[in-house]
Amino acid sequence: MANDALMVEDIPVDGSKPSGGVISVWTLNRPEKLNALNKDSHKAIKEQCSRVESDPNVRCIVIRGASPLPAEEGKRQKPAAFAAGADISEFAGKNSDDVRPFFEDNAWEAVWSLSKPTIAMVDGFALGGGTELALSCDIRIASDRAKFGQPEINLGLIPGGGGTQRLCRLIGYGKAMEMVLTGDMVDAEEALKIGLANKVVSPDDLEDSTLAIATSIAHKSPYTIKVAKRAVRASLELPFSEGVLTERSEFVALFDTEDKEIGVQAFLDRKEAEWVGN
Ligand code: COA
Repeated sequence: MANDALMVEDIPVDGSKPSGGVISVWTLNRPEKLNALNKDSHKAIKEQCSRVESDPNVRCIVIRGASPLPAEEGKRQKPAAFAAGADISEFAGKNSDDVRPFFEDNAWEAVWSLSKPTIAMVDGFALGGGTELALSCDIRIASDRAKFGQPEINLGLIPGGGGTQRLCRLIGYGKAMEMVLTGDMVDAEEALKIGLANKVVSPDDLEDSTLAIATSIAHKSPYTIKVAKRAVRASLELPFSEGVLTERSEFVALFDTEDKEIGVQAFLDRKEAEWVGN
């Protein structure tokens, strides 16, 4: 189950239908290392991915970084971070055989593969594997002091958590190249402009804004939400004409679900839909 590198809290969603819905909030919990992702972080995230996938009550997942601890006597305050990357101390002295098994079974792909919606709540640094973890989520909400970046080039490396592929698809070839080749950070304003962040708010508003989006998602039919995610995701894998056909077949199949009838009737009756989840 969750180890110290990840704190997990399932927050009940008032009025969710079917009842019992929760938003699962995962907090990367190594603030003294700017929440850098070590082996324990990956293990805990992968375990949580398995758990939420098989728990019908989990409607949406939010991933965030722990806030900085108060400064120790005589030391400076550490900055806010979502995650400042993979834990670089785990790279020293390693060869390809040492790291291959870890990278073949990692948390970035586990999060990406979830059938349920995921939101990254980014305050402060999201660098390297931190940006890649945010990219593995479906939506990114950032504070105005967020900084994204793929600085691996400065370590003689490239992104290894899917960053080259997901970044390119999200923000386009030119901007992705700029980030990967220069290693330069992108501030929140720029991240919003290039589509890396969906929304930017003040640090004080970040949690409420993120949970508001998670709650809105959690109030939809959990069955239809999964279909919607699958259909949009297909656009990344399939040629356009095949993607349109995939969408059509998903759409048509929804006409055999109870939730389609419930949603349509609720609209016609001017009532709230009481989803049953199938
Ligand atoms: N892996 C391991 N430890 C990390 C880390 C990482 N990716 N990023 C930060 N830390 C640790 C630092 O070593 C430091 O630990 P210490 O206090 O025990 O010495 C602590 O977190 C605070 O970081 P520090 O560098 O002192 O903070 P800063 O405010 O001066 O700089 C950053 C912040 C984010 C600019 C800087 O930490 C940094 O560049 N981190 C690495 C980013 C990176 O290259 N990520 C890609 C990895 S593939």
